[in-house]
Amino acid sequence: MRKIRSGIYGLNPLLDGGVNENSTTVVIGRSGAGKTTLATQFIRRGLQEGQEGVFVSLDENKEQIIREAVEMGWSDILEYLDDELLVFIDASGREFSNFIRKELPAFVADWKGSNARIAIDPLTPVLWSTKDLYEQRDLIGYMFKQTRKVGTVLCTLEEHGQADLAGPETVIPMYLADCVIHLKFNSDGADPSRLLKIVKCRNSRHSQGAHAYEIVRGLGIVLEDVDGRKPTTSKAPSQLRQMLLTRSMPKNVRDHLEKSLDGLTDEDFRSLKPERVLEMILQEYQGV
Ligand SMILES: Nc1ncnc2c1ncn2[C@@H]1O[C@H](COP(=O)(O)OP(=O)(O)O)[C@@H](O)[C@H]1O
Ligand SMILES: [Mg+2]
Repeated sequence: MRKIRSGIYGLNPLLDGGVNENSTTVVIGRSGAGKTTLATQFIRRGLQEGQEGVFVSLDENKEQIIREAVEMGWSDILEYLDDELLVFIDASGREFSNFIRKELPAFVADWKGSNARIAIDPLTPVLWSTKDLYEQRDLIGYMFKQTRKVGTVLCTLEEHGQADLAGPETVIPMYLADCVIHLKFNSDGADPSRLLKIVKCRNSRHSQGAHAYEIVRGLGIVLEDVDGRKPTTSKAPSQLRQMLLTRSMPKNVRDHLEKSLDGLTDEDFRSLKPERVLEMILQEYQGV
């Protein structure tokens, strides 16, 4: 998997180097969590790399999004717009199923294989356009499949209700996405708290933790206390490798296990003890 830099300060190390190219990421959070900011930041990073950017807005209009970006200090996006490297698709107030089934494929046919970054902000009105869950799944699945042909996709999703990620509108997009990022935003009390958590990420190692973030003018979303240069130790995997040598097991199993341990770090093992893993491997292959 090729990785692309997310543009979100501190996020790449949490995703083993960045976002997988041609994948679909869903960013979920309440109003004010920073979803539009994150989406803009992601697109802008691609523009800096020479990738094209497509911003599909289903809620705010183009002018609002641009105004917010300029207020954030990102006025360079005006030049990208002038140069037509950044394109806006204003789908606010449209009939979404028609937009997704007819207009989107026409756009994709034009842009196919262009390695752009696509932001869809927010996905929520698409879900609300029909009560039928099968239709919702079909629409979202179709949209993901189409947009992926154009490049790397990032969608935002509004979170409602009290409990984390418990709302019915999050289930289908979370299931269909390759990568799910939760922006936990709590604005109760005097000091609002913001935490970023990677809920899942297909085909990539990723952090399991909740990471505090701030939104800073000029920078956008910045994660706190992420040390990307932290030396990675691999004590647990190398201990397990040593232990494997002393036990008998089928050769193909041993060869495969040894190969699997290449490149693993203590981070991958988390709290797993090598002795315990060995015990379970032996149980699996010898206890029959
Ligand atoms: N120009 C700015 N300078 C500093 N903070 C900003 C700026 N613009 C937005 N923010 C912060 O970002 C928050 C909203 O971000 P936004 O991306 O619009 O959230 P969402 O799309 O999740 O509703 C605001 O509540 C504010 O805290
Ligand atoms: Mg928004």
